[in-house]
Amino acid sequence: MKKTLLLLLFCCSTLCYSQVKLDVKKEFAFAAKQYEGMLAAHPDLTKFPQSTLPDGKPRDMKSDWWCSGFFGGSLWYIFEHTQAPQWKEAAHKWTMAVEKEQFNTGTHDLGFMLYCPFGNGYRLTQNETYKNIMLTGAKSLATRFDPKVGLIKSWNSFKGGYTYPVIIDNMMNLEFLFWAAKTSGNKDLYNLSVTHADNTIKHHYRPDFSSYHVICYGPNGEVLAKKTHQGAADDSPWARGQSWGLYGYIVMYRETKDQKYLDLARNIADFLLNHPNLPADKVPYWDYSKPGEERDASAGAIMASALLELSTYGGKNAKRYYNDGVTILGSLSQAPYKAELGKNNHFILQHSVGHKPGNSEIDVPLVYADYYYLEGLLRYETLKKKKKLY
Ligand code: GLY
Repeated sequence: MKKTLLLLLFCCSTLCYSQVKLDVKKEFAFAAKQYEGMLAAHPDLTKFPQSTLPDGKPRDMKSDWWCSGFFGGSLWYIFEHTQAPQWKEAAHKWTMAVEKEQFNTGTHDLGFMLYCPFGNGYRLTQNETYKNIMLTGAKSLATRFDPKVGLIKSWNSFKGGYTYPVIIDNMMNLEFLFWAAKTSGNKDLYNLSVTHADNTIKHHYRPDFSSYHVICYGPNGEVLAKKTHQGAADDSPWARGQSWGLYGYIVMYRETKDQKYLDLARNIADFLLNHPNLPADKVPYWDYSKPGEERDASAGAIMASALLELSTYGGKNAKRYYNDGVTILGSLSQAPYKAELGKNNHFILQHSVGHKPGNSEIDVPLVYADYYYLEGLLRYETLKKKKKLY
């Protein structure tokens, strides 16, 4: 009797989530209203919206923070959907606010910082200024690739005295380098991206297709340690890291058409979607080993956007990837994840986790959760228009 009741409850909750109707127009109307408030609260172009502080006040960051490009990127997505000139103007302003980071060789995050704002801006406007800034930025990023190691260095140091740490998040910078390789004709950028991705498969991925967060390398590419920084444990599946890897290998397949990347992306997706700790609404806990703790809406948003692209490459689980991607977006488009208008320091989504072991950004809005949520909504709209539905 108890078992039947539990089964019934499980079926109902699964059914409810898969039946969520996503109204992209309505979601963008909400995003635009919420971000009108965000723009009004941010007159200073050196203070980039990031999150909420423990005292409830906004957490703003400078342009050299890894997230500085997401706000401009989201403004471009709102412009793309609405085509309203005021969003183009706002997007341009917040994009150019990151301009000086094109010369920053001290971070591996230039893909996030430059490609999200300038890349979307260039795609939508063909503004040559954006192109030139990105080409310089790609050269800056490439200085962090040491051919002896065969990977782009993420951070300059990591606890324990390591000097060549590489994090799974770094897979997200390769899309930027592929764009730069195509646009400039510089084959080195293509080749180093492939080498980075191949070495990441070798050392970051575990037999079950979950990934480590940080691999610490020696000067000749030897693995010195496998660690975590933001996850619950060295050997646990930190949720956002899993989403970054999934997204990254889908991009690898898109850019190279090498089947091995698609196979890996599908295996990662299957690991995540079959995980016993993935909740019915499919928005993961901050670490897959920590059921019952905080959810990470950002990990959900990144995964949703990635799954929608993965569904376009066919295969036996394509329909599932599409449905689960839409389920996540549907979950995020309602309470408790979606904020009330004018609340949440003007961010769209609530309930993300930045760095729980560092006691920072726990159960808060995060600017990149909004960015990938909007991207996911646009991808969903595109698939619907192309009638690529299941
Ligand atoms: N390091 C990027 C992140 O927190 O996901």
